[in-house]
Amino acid sequence: MPLRSTEAGWGALLRAFHWLIAALIIAQGILGLAMVQMGLTPAKVRVFALHKSIGMTILGLVLLRIAWRLSERRPLDPAAMPPWQRLAARGVHLALYLLILAIPLSGWWFNSASNAPLVWFGLFGVPSLTGGYDPVWKPRALLVHQTLFWVLVALLVAHVGAALWHHFRQRDDVLHRMVVGPRADKGGE
Ligand code: HEM
Ligand code: HEM
Repeated sequence: MPLRSTEAGWGALLRAFHWLIAALIIAQGILGLAMVQMGLTPAKVRVFALHKSIGMTILGLVLLRIAWRLSERRPLDPAAMPPWQRLAARGVHLALYLLILAIPLSGWWFNSASNAPLVWFGLFGVPSLTGGYDPVWKPRALLVHQTLFWVLVALLVAHVGAALWHHFRQRDDVLHRMVVGPRADKGGE
C-alpha cells in the first residue's frame, strides 16, 4: 500500500486525510447546527468549546493535507473523461480545499471578534486574530462562517453525486481508488 499517490491512484496518506477530514467536517457541521439551537445552559458552553477545538483540529489537518498534496501529483483521470469534466472536477476540488480552509478560519475569526475564549481541548489557549472584541467584524465573520458552510454543503452534493455517478454509471476506478487505493495490476488508465 504506497504512501504516496501514483498515476494509478491516491496514496494511503492522502486517502487517510480525505476520509478523516470528511468525517470530521460532517460531524462538525451537524454539531454546529445543533449547538446554536440549544438553550443557554452549561452544556451549551461545553459543546461550543468542543466545536471550536474540533474546528481548530480540522484547520491543522487541512494545512498538513495541503502541504502533503503540493508535494505529490494527482492520479491520471479515466481516459474516457471529456475535458469539461476534468475541468469541472478540478474546479470543485480547488473550491473544496479553499472552503475547508476558510470555514475554520472564519470560525476562529468570529470567536476572536466576540472576544470569546478558545482553549484547545482544555489544553492550551489559542491566540486571538483580532486582538479583542470587534463589533464591526463580529457579525461579518459570522455571516462568512454560515454562508461558506452552506456553499460547502452545495458543492458536496455535486462532489458526492459525481463520485457515485463514476462508480455506478461510468463503472470506472475513481471512487475505488479513493477508498482502497490503486489496484495492484494497474499502472494508470
Ligand atoms: C470545518 C470546520 C467548521 C465547520 C464545518 C463549522 C460549522 C458551523 C456551523 C454549521 C455552525 C452553525 C451556524 C448557524 O447556523 O448559525 C457553526 C457555528 C459556530 N462556529 Fe463553526 N464550524 C467550523 C469551525 C469552527 C471554528 C474553528 C470555530 C472557532 C474557533 C468555530 C466557531 C463557531 C461558533 C462560535 C459558532 C456559533 C455562532 C453563533 O453563535 O451563532 N467554528 N459552525
Ligand atoms: C466533507 C466532505 C468532503 C470533502 C471536503 C472532500 C474533498 C475532496 C477534495 C478536496 C478532493 C480532491 C483531492 C485532491 O485533488 O487532492 C476529493 C477527492 C475525492 N473525493 Fe471527496 N470530499 C468529501 C467527501 C467525499 C465523499 C463523501 C465521497 C464519496 C462518496 C468523496 C469522494 C471523492 C473521490 C472519489 C475523490 C477522488 C476524485 C479523483 O480521483 O479525481 N468525497 N475530495
